[in-house]
Amino acid sequence: MESALAHPPALSAEEAARLYLCDQTRKGDPVVIRAIAPDDKFEMRDLYPTLSERTLYMRFFRVISAPSLEAIARYTDVDFGTHLALVVLWGPEQRMVAAGRLIRATADSDVAELSCLVIDEMQYRGIGRVLVRQLLAVGRQWGINRVIALVHAENHAMLKLLKSQGYPTELVYDEGEFTVTLDTHQPPSDDNDSHHATVGAMHQGIET
Ligand SMILES: CC(C)(COP(=O)(O)OP(=O)(O)OC[C@H]1O[C@@H](n2cnc3c(N)ncnc32)[C@H](O)[C@@H]1OP(=O)(O)O)[C@@H](O)C(=O)NCCC(=O)NCCS
Repeated sequence: MESALAHPPALSAEEAARLYLCDQTRKGDPVVIRAIAPDDKFEMRDLYPTLSERTLYMRFFRVISAPSLEAIARYTDVDFGTHLALVVLWGPEQRMVAAGRLIRATADSDVAELSCLVIDEMQYRGIGRVLVRQLLAVGRQWGINRVIALVHAENHAMLKLLKSQGYPTELVYDEGEFTVTLDTHQPPSDDNDSHHATVGAMHQGIET
């Protein structure tokens, strides 16, 4: 029998656009995670020049330089029906340090692609972990049962982070990248160990 938590209350696009969550990293640092807003494009534009080539490559699989405000608006002016995006705010100034998103083909699809980025100077402090955890939880309320992420094979932090969220996970390797699929139909188990990961097809010698 499925638990009562298996089907969380539905989250409409209007509600998703007003999300405002207070959370903390594993170390106890407080963060605010809220729905992205069109005005975030200005702060996001200022952050781009601070990003390393590696960070850009891990996120976009190519190095992009200084996108126009119009291009950035595609990431900030989103509809919350097919594209749900969250930003992480840090410190007393509530500055933007990360963003993550779920994108699905149609508003009634239960499959979404996940991506995220933490700015270089704030990486490896637990921000990515809390952002992905919230994206997956919000995604379940948004009607998502399967989350897919394309992850570079050398992106060990992202692979570790996805595999240890407590959802059944499958990894399929092809030409330097993993397609990671998380089954979010059921709530996450508390036992957030990487043994939840099952490797669908893995290139020999690639350690995940
Ligand atoms: C990948 C990314 C989102 C992770 O976010 P983060 O805030 O830096 O990572 P966290 O501090 O939450 O750590 C996540 C896990 O990775 C591990 N980790 C951190 N740095 C690592 C490294 N260099 N190598 C291997 N694992 C690492 C951590 O130990 C942590 O696991 P734990 O919580 O079990 O200890 C972030 O580094 C990033 O934005 N990178 C560039 C863009 C990118 O790769 N986006 C993802 C595309 S799908």
